[in-house]
Amino acid sequence: MRNGTRVAEKILLVHDEQPLVESLKNVLFSVGYEVLQATDNDQAAQILDRETVDLLITDTQLNGAVNDGLMNYVNDAGYGIDIIVLSSTPELEQVRRLIDSGVYDLISKPFHSYELLLSVSRALEKRKLLARSRELQLDMEKKIKEKTLSLRLRNQEKQQLLISTIRSLVSALEAKDKYTEGHSRRVAENASMMAQMLSFSSFDIEELHLAGLFHDIGKIGITESVLNKKGQLTSEEYDLIKTHPLISQKIVEQVPQFKRISKIIRHHHEFFDGNGYPDALQGQQIPVGARIMTICDAYDAMTSDRSYRPALSESRALSIIERNAGTQFDPELVKIFLRMRGARN
Ligand SMILES: [Fe+2]
Ligand SMILES: [Fe+2]
Repeated sequence: MRNGTRVAEKILLVHDEQPLVESLKNVLFSVGYEVLQATDNDQAAQILDRETVDLLITDTQLNGAVNDGLMNYVNDAGYGIDIIVLSSTPELEQVRRLIDSGVYDLISKPFHSYELLLSVSRALEKRKLLARSRELQLDMEKKIKEKTLSLRLRNQEKQQLLISTIRSLVSALEAKDKYTEGHSRRVAENASMMAQMLSFSSFDIEELHLAGLFHDIGKIGITESVLNKKGQLTSEEYDLIKTHPLISQKIVEQVPQFKRISKIIRHHHEFFDGNGYPDALQGQQIPVGARIMTICDAYDAMTSDRSYRPALSESRALSIIERNAGTQFDPELVKIFLRMRGARN
């Protein structure tokens, strides 16, 4: 029944009755187990520390004393070994203590060798099943980890693909509307500089930078004749222009991690006094990133050539921003922006 190529299971016999030990050794050895022997608990502890033991057999009495120490030692040290205890006439109290300490089996002496072999075989089978189930669990955990990692990588790839698609939309927009060339980049740079002055976290600064890059992406859906119109816009044309924050938001929120960025983008044309669009939000209702973006956006629009007017000087643009603090712009953020542009201490 035992295969020669298999490693024999090791059984530690802790007993002081030499004739019994010899007979047990013979029985166990005859069916292919490897038997180690100790005559007291100290010897047993040394063997347990040195060898991988699969099962321990001992007695309720050892060297004339009640043998609870070994059971406790094996449990406390966490060896995870089952114990079979032999006993002549165990007291009920002792049986209860043995049960409490988790012994695998109690065999009363005298016993027939088949009783012991049956118990040994069951205990070792249980040990093998436990080891196998632990292996399966570890294997399962490993597979779950691998699967999670590959899913995460796939999501990252997907996200990168979406980001590069949005970036190419920005380039396409800049090619279509020559007046916005470099606008998004400059807005992104100024907005993140303001965020640094406000001691935002590096994560928030990065989000604001991306929001700046993508804020006008929705203009891709607006016809060139309206975008590049030299004269005054009709109210229908202006209504069309006003849809761009919503279109920008729709495009950017395709990236699941860009929810907050898409909110900043949605509100980059809100006014601090509630006269902006698309939601006519007021003051603190407007996300702080959007309030920053509004200032940087207006500044860059004023200091760039437009189809309907040439660029304003920096000092003129800054004074217009200062004048509109509290109406179009958050007055506290205007102070920061003016300081950043060197127009204030
Ligand atoms: Fe815009
Ligand atoms: Fe803009």
